[in-house]
Amino acid sequence: MCYAIPGNVKSITGNLITVDYFGEERKARNDFYDLRVGDYVYAQGGFVVEKIDEKLAEEILDSWKEMFFELKKTDVRLSKLHNDKPNVEKSFLRIIDRAIYGKSISHEEALRLLLSENPDEIDVLHKSANFIRQKFLDNSCCVHGIIEFSNMCDCQCAYCGINSDNSALKRFSLNTGEILKVVEDAVNRFGFKGIVLQSGESPSYSSENILDLIKKIRENYPVFIFLSVGEREEEFYRKAFDAGAKAVLFRFETSDSDLYSKLHPHSSLNERTGYLELFKEIGYIIASGSLIGLPGQNAESVINDFMFAKNLGCDMYSFGPFIPHPNSPLSRHSAPDAEYVLKALSVLRLIDPYGKILVTTALESINPKTRQQALMGGANSIMLNLTPKDYVGSYDIYPNRAAVDVSVADQIADALQLLKSIGRAPTDLGI
Ligand code: 5AD
Repeated sequence: MCYAIPGNVKSITGNLITVDYFGEERKARNDFYDLRVGDYVYAQGGFVVEKIDEKLAEEILDSWKEMFFELKKTDVRLSKLHNDKPNVEKSFLRIIDRAIYGKSISHEEALRLLLSENPDEIDVLHKSANFIRQKFLDNSCCVHGIIEFSNMCDCQCAYCGINSDNSALKRFSLNTGEILKVVEDAVNRFGFKGIVLQSGESPSYSSENILDLIKKIRENYPVFIFLSVGEREEEFYRKAFDAGAKAVLFRFETSDSDLYSKLHPHSSLNERTGYLELFKEIGYIIASGSLIGLPGQNAESVINDFMFAKNLGCDMYSFGPFIPHPNSPLSRHSAPDAEYVLKALSVLRLIDPYGKILVTTALESINPKTRQQALMGGANSIMLNLTPKDYVGSYDIYPNRAAVDVSVADQIADALQLLKSIGRAPTDLGI
């Protein structure tokens, strides 16, 4: 099973191409290949990541064809709206209706949804979010793999278990050869088309090393690269884009600047968001978000974060629960309820019908059932962990992380089984 469907190039305008997938047309940017109309490509995250041989593409398409339409049918069936719950206020339904018709909802309206404690309303909210996801984005679900290649970190983020003050943590860094081996398996053995390279923030892993790694990955493997390596020099991010990394996963953590400063003694919200502006200007695809349930954060602040992320023009949202780490300054606080985070993700889908919404590992770590619940409540992206088993336990940002003891093959099997059962295609067709 592969994580992208080959598309046929229909038209080319400069570096923007139109790709056909069984009659559906999408756009993708081509920075890497010499393409002609009629060629077959894999696109991921809105970029062409591989040009493929026509015969091979036709074979793969043949094997996909039946499944492609079958999955769509299942999704349409499961995302139908039945607003048959008796105990729902009219004003609540009016907000939902606005979102269903693609109209924007206000801060106040979003807050009304998030603050509802009424089970019937919450059920309607989740179902409507799923309906909106299907209506605006169809049934594709990104399945990316994350490689956590170093837990060296000079930051003192108050929530994070790899913060530099945690002297109990065994620190590690994979070298380029070790990372390439993981990428090799991810792409050639398991079929990943998108990977995230993530690390703590430390100059001990030099920017030159990361640039070299990106070049080697792009030279050898047709894969879309997300960088998640924190605050580094502008020059690095410009070179990394040219070297072939086209997306960043970079959370702003909270849009409340006072809270931000309390939690990050080494930095400010202005500095943080300055990076996101820079990434946009360079042309990166942006995945960003914040922590839900931080001490000192209320529901208004969560909605502020969603609005902030939407205004940034995020392509993908990464909002997940805060989970207290025993060796962090916030160790005495508690994680939010999974139900609250699920409700928040559904509200986010109503705020932005078009963005990809990730089901975070942190949410799955509170309760593994949440992957399916979130996908049935507006989310459409998941991440599997590719970090080698000798190291994954030391990437200890919060305790009891989901999937750390599950092999990559088993994570894939679980994900595919779930996606199939709810009619989602494990692909990213582009924009
Ligand atoms: N709980 C949940 N998420 C956390 N992160 C760091 N520490 C925690 C925690 N205790 C998240 C941050 C960071 C990402 C890599 O991990 O939001 O951006």
